[in-house]
Amino acid sequence: MVPAARTLVMTGATRGIGLAAAREVLRRSPETHIVVLGRGSSAAEVLPGLQEISPHVSTVDVDLSSRTSIDAAGAQVEDRLDSGELPPLRGLVFNAGIHLSDALQATVDGYERTFAVNVMSTHQLLRQLHPHIQAPARIVVTVSDAHFGDLRHTAGTMPAPRWAIPEVSRPGAFRRSGSVRAGRRAYVTSKLGGVHLVHEWARLLPAGVDILAYNPSLVVGTGLAREAGGALPFLMSKIIPLVAVTSLVDTPVPAGSKLADVILGVTPAETGTYIHREKVVASSVESYDSDRERELWDWLETVSRTSC
Ligand SMILES: NC(=O)c1ccc[n+]([C@@H]2O[C@H](COP(=O)([O-])OP(=O)(O)OC[C@H]3O[C@@H](n4cnc5c(N)ncnc54)[C@H](OP(=O)(O)O)[C@@H]3O)[C@@H](O)[C@H]2O)c1
Repeated sequence: MVPAARTLVMTGATRGIGLAAAREVLRRSPETHIVVLGRGSSAAEVLPGLQEISPHVSTVDVDLSSRTSIDAAGAQVEDRLDSGELPPLRGLVFNAGIHLSDALQATVDGYERTFAVNVMSTHQLLRQLHPHIQAPARIVVTVSDAHFGDLRHTAGTMPAPRWAIPEVSRPGAFRRSGSVRAGRRAYVTSKLGGVHLVHEWARLLPAGVDILAYNPSLVVGTGLAREAGGALPFLMSKIIPLVAVTSLVDTPVPAGSKLADVILGVTPAETGTYIHREKVVASSVESYDSDRERELWDWLETVSRTSC
């Protein structure tokens, strides 16, 4: 057995693109220990299958919609790193994401659930774990080309993001917040937030610790549409797979393999960049707003200092 030499902490590894990526990383990199940060029952379900690939995998229970739960999960990872139970931390993957049917749902902490899971949990975990990261390391945040919110990238299925901090962190921030369209807007806005986070963290992380935004683009056969409402679950499960043979659509295994390429450094990219599947491209014009990024950072820091 190859001894584990590096730790990779990963969210969203219990289904869809992330589960396929975790399998691929364990296959290709037997010296990597993956810590799957996931909800207890989901993590327990996938653990035996992952352990068939490699013994270097373990789980930590977390609900990314709860700040207390994230704090406890982060502390568990810290303890295991400090005690030497886990090898040096050289990678973080923030792949978990949700897409809801409205913009009204509140977390236990009172934040809008999409924004809390897709943006706030990433910052909170990164803030807690980044002092433990040893260069060279890669941090990957899964975003989406839906953050462009234009016809070219979403074929008209998504509205444009509407950014305002702290308003978008609150339930009911968008017009007709109970509608499916508002849920879509919350999703694309959160994905824009993910790109902003990558830009700001890239300015602050030390040399050798790179952070990248990964866009899998359209991937059918994952669980993302399950809470999205409207026609999306039907489209994603029945109609879009019919055109899945085209290069416009991926399925979890190839998308996971591309994510594994990003995680393992096979896909070359400078820190702070946006990778569309396998290639660095520009994110939306709107996403390069450094004032907005600083404002988001400051607000997230205030939240972190005043909670948990
Ligand atoms: N599918 C696409 O077309 C597409 C396109 C662009 C970007 N993306 C992005 O790709 C990423 C993966 O999406 P996917 O399509 O593979 O979706 P998926 O199959 O629904 O996977 C989502 C993952 O996030 C986890 N998660 C959600 N809420 C959580 C919570 N409160 N606490 C802990 N974990 C939680 C899920 O855990 P459970 O197993 O416990 O539910 C699951 O592992 C997301 O960030 C998504 O926005 C997807």
